[in-house]
Amino acid sequence: MTDLASAPPRGAIAPLSAENVALGAALLRAGGLVAFPTETVYGLGADARSDEAVARIFAAKGRPRFNPLIVHATDLAAARKIAVIEGVAARLAEAFWPGPLTLVAPRRDARISLLVSAGLDTLALRVPAHEGARALIAAAGGAVAAPSANPSGKLSPTRAEAVADGLGEAVDLILDGGPSAVGLESTILAVEEGAVRVLREGGAPREALEAALGAPVAAPQEAPGDAAPRAAPGMLASHYAPGAALRLNAAAPAPGEAFLGFGPLPPTGSPAKTLSERRDLREAAARLFAHLRALDEALGGAGVIAAAPIPETGLGRAINDRLRRAAAPRPDA
Ligand code: TXA
Ligand code: MG
Repeated sequence: MTDLASAPPRGAIAPLSAENVALGAALLRAGGLVAFPTETVYGLGADARSDEAVARIFAAKGRPRFNPLIVHATDLAAARKIAVIEGVAARLAEAFWPGPLTLVAPRRDARISLLVSAGLDTLALRVPAHEGARALIAAAGGAVAAPSANPSGKLSPTRAEAVADGLGEAVDLILDGGPSAVGLESTILAVEEGAVRVLREGGAPREALEAALGAPVAAPQEAPGDAAPRAAPGMLASHYAPGAALRLNAAAPAPGEAFLGFGPLPPTGSPAKTLSERRDLREAAARLFAHLRALDEALGGAGVIAAAPIPETGLGRAINDRLRRAAAPRPDA
């Protein structure tokens, strides 16, 4: 038995050892919040069957109640006990799980807190590829609700330190599994009457989904600049925002601006980082949030980050989606 009395102080970062996974699971079972690594971004986990624990997620993130959470499971069989995953959805799950794909499906397990889905009769489900994440989920009882582990509206964390910076003592424990391999949140899909629609572009590129299905997959529908949720509920136009403003499709930084490049960096006296010297979209996705965070810090959380154009293909679509949201007018600006 893990002794919770000997747990490290709130907000502590602990390496992802078997011992600390057991500690994290014990904290989750006791209704606590545990941040953990996944291959996409770090998640802020709570027992999906506890209303109280799930409510703590919303409080810690300052998240609007209408924005539902993803339930993380250990495998397809376990996910099928939580939601109804059949037909096309099952084929997609077989092809992409474990991995960066989230499926929205009708609820099945009545024990999953209604707060998780914010009143919807569907649940978003994902089986992460990260083995440490799956070990934690298994030891915690098999259903962990977890949004990205950042304050609402801010950049998703791809490192344990970023979780600590954003959420601090609002988290009971932060499990450190190193930098996230994918670096972008999962792709969210809705399957309705056999038709597949992307609710959020992410780590599973649309081309790969279409190849697996042998059929077209509809793009997210939303009006740019629209503050109301359209695609996935809670997909606000302004999101993933650093303190600095963003200028998109910039060939080079103007004086005083920082630069987020794609390809070799032009000579510049400004703070600059490239998403990928060799223009590799996978590498660019993995670095996106960490580089935005570093450039924001270099500017002191104000000013402008100029971002180079990214091709609108494969993972580039999800990268561009996040950059557009980071650049969108802020509700509190
Ligand atoms: O990669 C990821 O998906 C990460 C890691 C931690 O797994 N999680 C993540 O969660 O990005 P979050 O909460 O930041 O985003 C979840 C998205 C929200 O946009 C939410 O509106 C949508 O999932 N969502 C959740 N339940 C839904 C439902 N029943 N129907 C439609 N959209 C839903
Ligand atoms: Mg998020």
